[in-house]
Amino acid sequence: MLVVNATATFIVTIDGPAGTGKSTVAHRLAKRLGLEFLDTGAMYRAAALEALARNIDPADGESVAALVRTLDIRFDWLRDPPELLVNGRAVGDAIRTERVTRAVTPVASNPVVRTAMVEAQRRIAAAHRRLVTEGRDQGSIVFPDADVRIYLDARADIRARRRVEQLRMKGIETTEAEILAQIIHRDQSDSTRRDGPLVVPDGADVLDTSDIDIDDVIDRLEDIVRLRASAALARDGSDELMNDPSDDPSDDPTDRDADDDDRDLRVARR
Ligand code: DC
Repeated sequence: MLVVNATATFIVTIDGPAGTGKSTVAHRLAKRLGLEFLDTGAMYRAAALEALARNIDPADGESVAALVRTLDIRFDWLRDPPELLVNGRAVGDAIRTERVTRAVTPVASNPVVRTAMVEAQRRIAAAHRRLVTEGRDQGSIVFPDADVRIYLDARADIRARRRVEQLRMKGIETTEAEILAQIIHRDQSDSTRRDGPLVVPDGADVLDTSDIDIDDVIDRLEDIVRLRASAALARDGSDELMNDPSDDPSDDPTDRDADDDDRDLRVARR
């Protein structure tokens, strides 16, 4: 666990394209460090789900904007991971369907939606001040002064393969070619939209997860966070951060590869 004093704000942002394992990694990293976890993609998905439920065309910018102004999107922080509530109702896995995944692209490109989400995310961070937050614009737009900014990347073919595997586990059969085409389309849309495009945030640590398994990714991110946190504290002359050997029980440190001497090779600071 990473122990910071009770009043300190400590924000870790994790951005990157779909299929890099961001959500799982961010959640597990947050647990390991004793921080809270915010899944901002879920918020955009909830807006898309509501549009579909009300027969609003996700590409109809004005109607979606009008809808979003009426929505109360918040999390139940007593659940782990926090559960998303829209107008007081838990949305559960309904935001993870293929239909919502297709609808969310135009919804997330809508400037009114983005403004509402960015404001909501900053409000959340004001109340939950020690946070790992993941999305596409967290380190670039929402929290450009975050203590640690991470950008996770992976080759598109690898991301497609991971996605096909995830869908297969849910009993949905697809082909890698089909998913790869969707991923390329989504990357293009996420990176070229006018508001909050997917970019590597200034000063971010970039980690390519193509050839690293998830446990290794989390180990490397933990190293990055500790390094950046210590550097910041040394700079600020504070001693309010210390290492606490107590750890997330799901992350057994004895599982780590002691001979991982190329540990930092894929980590590049921009
Ligand atoms: O990470 P995800 O697949 O759950 O994200 C769903 C969609 O929301 C995806 O199209 C990207 C978009 N998104 C965004 O534009 N900005 C964020 N901060 C998070 C997600």
